[in-house]
Amino acid sequence: MADTDGERESKEFHVGVPQASDGFFLKGSAHYDWGMKNRLARIFDPASGRTVMLAVDHGYFQGPTTGLERIDLSIVPLVPLADTLMLTRGALRTMIPPASRPAIVLRASGGPSVLKELSNEEIAVDIEDALRLNAAALAVQVFVGGEHETKSIHNLTRLVDAGTRYGVPVLAVTAVGKEMVRDAKYFRLATRICAELGAHYVKTYYVAIGFDTVTSCCPVPIVIAGGKKLPELDALTMARNAIDQGASGVDMGRNIFQSAAPVAMLRAVRAVVHDNATPSEAYELYQKLE
Ligand code: R5P
Repeated sequence: MADTDGERESKEFHVGVPQASDGFFLKGSAHYDWGMKNRLARIFDPASGRTVMLAVDHGYFQGPTTGLERIDLSIVPLVPLADTLMLTRGALRTMIPPASRPAIVLRASGGPSVLKELSNEEIAVDIEDALRLNAAALAVQVFVGGEHETKSIHNLTRLVDAGTRYGVPVLAVTAVGKEMVRDAKYFRLATRICAELGAHYVKTYYVAIGFDTVTSCCPVPIVIAGGKKLPELDALTMARNAIDQGASGVDMGRNIFQSAAPVAMLRAVRAVVHDNATPSEAYELYQKLE
């Protein structure tokens, strides 16, 4: 039985010292429950408030994408350098060591392949399996303006309901049809709809004109996709511009794993996102490491 004889009456109670009741560092996230905040803090580094997500989920609709033919060989060495790994449960279970540290963002929608209408997705993961995999978030594609717009938004809202039940945030990924204009007006519409319908953060594309208006009217954090492979300096410049205009990080795939030096590129992207490096400083780092 615990011995209470030595208890000191007043000192350790710190009477008069108010208990800390801090806010939360992430945009729009102050009123979530503890588990949700804890998962978000595994995705977004509380020190910088930002994230470098490594996106390798492309196979879910396009099969063995260039650079992802052998995730065990090309991606596993990059895993320790990412804050977050975004991928399918199939790739996770079969190729990623369970001792990996980065938070897992699980691709949770799917259905059509590149051979079909891509907006015709369904929810592809049960919340129970996401919890079993210790997912830090669920990612769902949202096709605003697409043929199956309502269905994809319904996928989002159902995942938000399931995620909220268990404290798992949902990342809405704005998917733009080939025929649609990628401009600030479209991304304001798409990101705001996702946030209003409950997404905890939103992924979108960077646009050269008006990106700051996209981030300013979206009440949750925005991360940018990398998009198709660019020269390294251009990709680093895009990341810098996006951060300077209010993005909370990147969810980058091809510009990292299709780079001639993926480890160097991932370190350079981290320097931009977390250490506020300029594009030329980050490119210098890339060249030093490649
Ligand atoms: C695409 O549908 C996937 O969600 C990718 O995760 C996303 O496009 C980001 O990858 P990338 O930087 O290659 O565009």
